[in-house]
Amino acid sequence: MVRRMSEPKPVILSGIQPSGHLAIGNYLGALKNWVELQDRYDCIFLVVDLHALTVRQVPAELRRRCLSFAAQYIACGIDPEKSAIAIQSHVPQHAELGWVLNTITYMGELNRMTQFKDKSARHNQNINVGLFSYPVLMAADILLYQADLVPVGADQKQHLELTRDVAQRFNNLYSPTFTVPEAFIPKVGARIMSLQDPTKKMSKSDDVEGNYISLLDPPNVITRKIKRAVTDSGTEVRFDEGSAGLANLITMYSVLSGLDIPAVEAHFAGKMYGHLKVELAELTVETLRPVQAEYARLMEDSAYLDGILARGAEDCRGRARKTLSKVYRKVGLVPAAR
Ligand code: TYM
Repeated sequence: MVRRMSEPKPVILSGIQPSGHLAIGNYLGALKNWVELQDRYDCIFLVVDLHALTVRQVPAELRRRCLSFAAQYIACGIDPEKSAIAIQSHVPQHAELGWVLNTITYMGELNRMTQFKDKSARHNQNINVGLFSYPVLMAADILLYQADLVPVGADQKQHLELTRDVAQRFNNLYSPTFTVPEAFIPKVGARIMSLQDPTKKMSKSDDVEGNYISLLDPPNVITRKIKRAVTDSGTEVRFDEGSAGLANLITMYSVLSGLDIPAVEAHFAGKMYGHLKVELAELTVETLRPVQAEYARLMEDSAYLDGILARGAEDCRGRARKTLSKVYRKVGLVPAAR
């Protein structure tokens, strides 16, 4: 499709929960793609703090983590001059639209969400209503901005499908209101696995530090974690789904280097797993070195960061208000007198 200069760019919306430590899985599955897409799209990237409340948080840590995550977005290459960066709770319309969408989403649909099942098994002392209706808030995040595309890792596919169903349902019940969004899931890197247990997805809030690489891990820690990553006892560097640990390391190397999988195999032909681990550690350290330097600089300049978040929230509120007032009108709520 040829887009004329005067046509607005399509909209991208994505977000990350400020829980645990931003990990290389989040970077390879989502953030890296955000950076690559931001020139061609009108982008909004959120720190979704309301979502993080579905799991118990230490308030002071959550507050600090929200700012830290925003700084990491920028340090990874999100340019605040091109993209809006905002904290979800600074835009009250998310929760407001979430409520309306709750009323057209069925319990049966939410019961099927695999992430709810996983998380409620992990936090069985706190299976709260927010955890259950979390995908509805996520749908609100996306639909509020009429997003065309949502770049996420594979684990969010089911939530995106629900978002599309809810958008279509609303459009059919009332009249066309929401853009029905598409997921953007990378072909390689959409599901980075845990380093110690490669049958499990890498999670930023894992209790075991050796399972993930934080974007802020120092070089010696990154090297140690990769060296200790679990693989089988083979030697040849060949991609095979059956050899999950090795396949994961090859995948990480592929996305970080920009080489496709056959090219990575060719690069390591005749070499052993140990070579792959050494080179992957070097590549990860070198990729994260400038990110960490920029992050340290940003965290020293809280006025700059606050300014970006204030501007981002202002921009988001303006857009969100438009969608929400349309929605309120269509469902029959009386407009407030101005
Ligand atoms: P969250 O915070 O768990 O993860 C943030 C992003 O990182 C991706 N991701 C991964 N990608 C590859 N390998 C992994 N091991 C891996 N782990 C996580 C996730 O797919 C995601 O893209 N519900 C969302 C946050 C959210 C959201 C939204 C996303 C709330 N509202 C609106 C997009 C649009 C979540 O919990 O992601």
